[in-house]
Amino acid sequence: MVICKSIVASQEVINTQKQTNHTIGFVPSMGALHEGHIALITASKQAGNFTVCSIFVNPTQFNNQEDFEKYPVSIEADIALLIHYRCDVLFLPSVSEMYPNNGLKLTKPYPLSALENVLEGQYRPGHFQGVCQIVERLLTIIHPHHLYMGSKDYQQFMVISFLLQFNPALSTIQLHLQPTVREQSGLAMSSRNRRLSDENLKKAAALYQSLLFVKAHILQFTIPELEHLVTQMLLKAGFEKVDYISIADANTLMSIASVQPNQPAVVLAAAYIQGVRLIDNLMLN
Ligand code: PAF
Repeated sequence: MVICKSIVASQEVINTQKQTNHTIGFVPSMGALHEGHIALITASKQAGNFTVCSIFVNPTQFNNQEDFEKYPVSIEADIALLIHYRCDVLFLPSVSEMYPNNGLKLTKPYPLSALENVLEGQYRPGHFQGVCQIVERLLTIIHPHHLYMGSKDYQQFMVISFLLQFNPALSTIQLHLQPTVREQSGLAMSSRNRRLSDENLKKAAALYQSLLFVKAHILQFTIPELEHLVTQMLLKAGFEKVDYISIADANTLMSIASVQPNQPAVVLAAAYIQGVRLIDNLMLN
């Protein structure tokens, strides 16, 4: 695996591959890699792509300074994992490489409309603007044929699909959504899980259980009843705070009053345990 710390070096390696007609698959990440990331790398490799992974903890997408400071970093282990799974290039830029001249500001507001005002957008103001800013930069540098993202961050996937339409230079990039990878307990793999004690790691599985409960009881209770029941379940299981449990249209993420047959619906949740904010979601049909 080649490790490139500069934009120029990464483009040199990637352009050589493009010239020999290799397709480029890209997995953007913030490191602290886990099986969820590996599934994305593997999907890209299995599709025959020359595969690039980036590791960059992007300051502009953190609305909470403590979350940024405590974001797990394990670069040596990440490199070993990427080599093991035959990733071809690791793009590992510094903050000044990605934001030259101290440019840690949002220069261009992305018109994300309603996507930005609900769920993660509502509870993490500015988060998706920061995500768009960095992903647009990464895609402009690497310009892959294929981009791989995980379903755990379903709203982020929708934001990135918007970005690919919004910037015509990126419109040929094919976005692939890969299933959420889970621990045996059902807990969605997440870099933030590393901040949990063993005991709370077990308790955190209640987040997925609560989504399964919604799916199993969707016809039995009204949506407000379900949202209330599940919030209580999570608090009882050891979560300190529930930001949201929302049953929404899977195409718009707007909350719905009832699930109609053939209407794509999704239940999404965000809650805190041991001060760590976890998210998850489950398709309902
Ligand atoms: O999902 C992530 O890890 C990040 O939001 C991403 C897409 C790498 C942008 O920093």
